[in-house]
Amino acid sequence: MTSNSCYPLDALREEVSAQLRAAGIKEEDLRIEYPPPGIDAALAFPCFRLSQKEKKAPALIAQEIAEKIKIGVLGLLPVAQGPYVNFSINPEPYDRLTLACIDEKGAHYGGEEKNEKTIIIEYSSPNIAKPMSVGHLRTTIIGQVLKQLFRFLGYRAIGINHLGDWGTQFGKLIVAFRKWGDEERLQEAPINELLRIYVLFHQEAEKDPSLEEEGRKAFNDLEKGDAGAQKLWERFRNLTLDEIDRIYQAMGVDFEHVTGESFYEDKMQKVIDAIQAKGLSEESEGAQIVPLKEHGIKQPLLLKKRDGSSLYATRDLAAAVYRVETFHPAKILYVVGSEQKLHFQQFFKVLELLGYDPGLFVHVDFGLVNLPEGKMSTREGRVIFLESLIDEATTRAKQRLVEREFQGTPEELDQLARMVGISAIKYRDIYQPRNRSITFDWDEMLSTEGNSSVYIQYALVRMKGILRKGEVEAFIDPEAAKILVSPQEIALIRELSRFPEKVRLAAKEYEPFHVADSVYEICQAFSRFYKENPVLIASEPQRSARLTLVSATARVLENGMDILGIAKPEKM
Ligand code: ARG
Repeated sequence: MTSNSCYPLDALREEVSAQLRAAGIKEEDLRIEYPPPGIDAALAFPCFRLSQKEKKAPALIAQEIAEKIKIGVLGLLPVAQGPYVNFSINPEPYDRLTLACIDEKGAHYGGEEKNEKTIIIEYSSPNIAKPMSVGHLRTTIIGQVLKQLFRFLGYRAIGINHLGDWGTQFGKLIVAFRKWGDEERLQEAPINELLRIYVLFHQEAEKDPSLEEEGRKAFNDLEKGDAGAQKLWERFRNLTLDEIDRIYQAMGVDFEHVTGESFYEDKMQKVIDAIQAKGLSEESEGAQIVPLKEHGIKQPLLLKKRDGSSLYATRDLAAAVYRVETFHPAKILYVVGSEQKLHFQQFFKVLELLGYDPGLFVHVDFGLVNLPEGKMSTREGRVIFLESLIDEATTRAKQRLVEREFQGTPEELDQLARMVGISAIKYRDIYQPRNRSITFDWDEMLSTEGNSSVYIQYALVRMKGILRKGEVEAFIDPEAAKILVSPQEIALIRELSRFPEKVRLAAKEYEPFHVADSVYEICQAFSRFYKENPVLIASEPQRSARLTLVSATARVLENGMDILGIAKPEKM
């Protein structure tokens, strides 16, 4: 990407490109790939395109190209393998470059220079007056990581919490509170109380359907600015926000803007007018809809209800227009579960029909969270409150730390247990591609051996311990590359050299998992290194060279953990 960076894979790529150009490959045919795992090469040049152009067998072309190329600095002589020219790494110069680059970039290794682009990341967006569920937990965690990731890559990243603080359910809550609300309970545990009356409302409405109508009317009053309704709504919102903020604080989550759906109440008419002016909407049974059949989407978007009140999609349209006009973003990411896929298809399509660049809007979806009881629904009242989830993670982490004979004061233990527990929850949400559903399996999440944050934290603590005992803080000597020649040492440096590429890939695919994966691979490579290559008891020059490697590894690992928001304990 950037030619002035010291990233080793970039440098190798540039060297290989220059070699291929010198061998007569034209710019438009210059496509260099990463070979799949199992192929013993760092980069590969596929010859299929040239084969079509030149009407020659790709293997023959590969052969001819390989013969023309002389040995490089970072790479060895290329080898033709079937239709590919494979390029392998010359360890010593490549490793020297890697270590020097980690030393030079330090906490920015893997990152990029500041750029002018703005990226909006909308995440968390819980519904007011309902407890946040573990589903909201996923968007909160993935979104926060994406924000950190894009900042690391030099973007101006803006986090927006699109609170569900508007809509018919507030009419229902107003009605329910007037009928059954308990002022004292509301003060004490607002979300609990609001949930109680919300559940009650639905139970009662099954017996008495007229309640639904009453709820609709109350929301209509709210939209019209009725003072009584407005006042209740505001209280519900503020009380809930205070509670939710506690969770954000505990999780290290923050937002640049907390602008919920209600924020767009006075901004919807503009977009409705634009839609009507373009003739995109029509009336259907008294409601306003935008038919999308012609555009491959069977269900129309609902713009306005029969009673004139707005809908979820109307507010999303207004929000998108507002964000584009206010922030001029290069992208708006919506981190929202896959179950809302249709909704996003619909309103993205309408934005496109309004003339917006469809490439601007991305639904960053993710799979479900499985709990032993199955999928949760607020309405049924089967909710795991995030606070109790955090408590459980903390308690379990504490148990394990005690089992492993943690040495420290009770306060240190409590603090550490919380760090470890919360990190375990976060890591579980991103340790695999986001589209897969996740299962909260405490044994796996808190395992010291598998792919867990605990494993990663222990690895970092071990590295720090070695460095402390070796009396080196952050000393990296690139010349150690000469000495670090065991297979495990070379493999570990190779993993460190891949980190910047994985960070970029994570941003390109909006997939925090690639960073987690790199971090995990680094830890595994470190374990294998440490098993076979003693550090502190080795004799010189190995001892110093290995200390350099441990120092470089800790540096890259910390950069990865910072992006992921995984706590970095000093001891464990
Ligand atoms: N509040 C919604 C919910 O909890 C999620 C909002 C998603 N974002 C959006 N722009 N529609 O289901």
